[in-house]
Amino acid sequence: MKEHSIKLAILRALAQGGFHSGEELGTMLGVSRAAISKHIKGIQAWGVDVYRVQGKGYQLAEPMQLLDEQTLQAQFGDLVELIPVIDSTNQYLLDRADSLQSGAVCLAEYQAKGRGRRGREWVSPFGANLYMSMYWRLDAGMAAAMGLSLVVGVAIVEALEELGLEGVKLKWPNDLYYQDKKLAGILVEMSGQAGAAANLVIGMGMNLTMPEKTEGITQPWASLKDVANTGTLDRNELAITLINTLHQALTDYELKGMQGFVTRWNRLDNFLDRPIKLIMGPREITGICRGINEQGAVLLETDNGVESFIGGEISLRLSKCE
Ligand code: ATP
Ligand code: BTN
Repeated sequence: MKEHSIKLAILRALAQGGFHSGEELGTMLGVSRAAISKHIKGIQAWGVDVYRVQGKGYQLAEPMQLLDEQTLQAQFGDLVELIPVIDSTNQYLLDRADSLQSGAVCLAEYQAKGRGRRGREWVSPFGANLYMSMYWRLDAGMAAAMGLSLVVGVAIVEALEELGLEGVKLKWPNDLYYQDKKLAGILVEMSGQAGAAANLVIGMGMNLTMPEKTEGITQPWASLKDVANTGTLDRNELAITLINTLHQALTDYELKGMQGFVTRWNRLDNFLDRPIKLIMGPREITGICRGINEQGAVLLETDNGVESFIGGEISLRLSKCE
């Protein structure tokens, strides 16, 4: 069997619900109970909350709905690949950018090296969240890529609203927030220029049912299950909706750029009219957040009036004096 296939088969069995004994799993997969016990440890290391009860066997602490490649490919054909265990879906597409067609998607259940901006870790436990990336060849070139992460963020929040999920907001430039906690992040990366065009990979990680005991996240976080009306959400359908949303947002952006976009962003800005600080290396500036301008720069009102700030090195935080 391939490297992770036993663990994946165990997870498929556990995802059905109920208890599954080591013996039953071992017989099903043609391995010993000791081997099953070892694989369960590996599954726990992927961030899955699975426990054992003497005499009954193993059970998941929370229900898990796995992604299904057939369901996804019924919608998108070979454009979408599901690779359950991966280093990073962004890296996977970046490595293959030369042979991909715009709109190609990679999804995963677990990322061993999921990443955020500036090489920070994106914690990616198995089966609990969504990790997806889309390749896009942007004819407008690299300079247009900054606006793109803003446009994608707005499109995703609006898609959630259409599903009846209210209260998800945006943090400039690349995060989705719920009740002042980070729900999702967007990461736009480039694999170099193809003539004037840019080879882009747009990645999104969205927490759906992340176990409360998940370790390694250095700031408050939320899961989509915290939002009202998410009880009946189907994980595969949500993935399909978000892939369609991403595709549409990129197509629109190619046609219209940021035109008409400021109002849409400002309606959803989590920090609009609130005191914030912008951190730029050793420098910090505090003021009141006034949303964004047509170039996608964040606007900060200080004693000097309203100033705009743009660039990948800027971090926005709530200022303590709220
Ligand atoms: P900024 O982008 O403004 O600098 P940021 O802190 O959100 O701020 P990012 O690089 O965008 O930084 O994202 C990485 C941050 O996200 C880290 O603080 C990390 O602990 C946190 N993080 C990692 N995984 C998750 C996750 N699954 N859910 C929420 N937050 C996460
Ligand atoms: C951020 O907030 O800094 C962006 C986080 C982006 C995480 C996603 S998960 C899918 C894709 N693959 C990665 O390694 N990162 C992005």
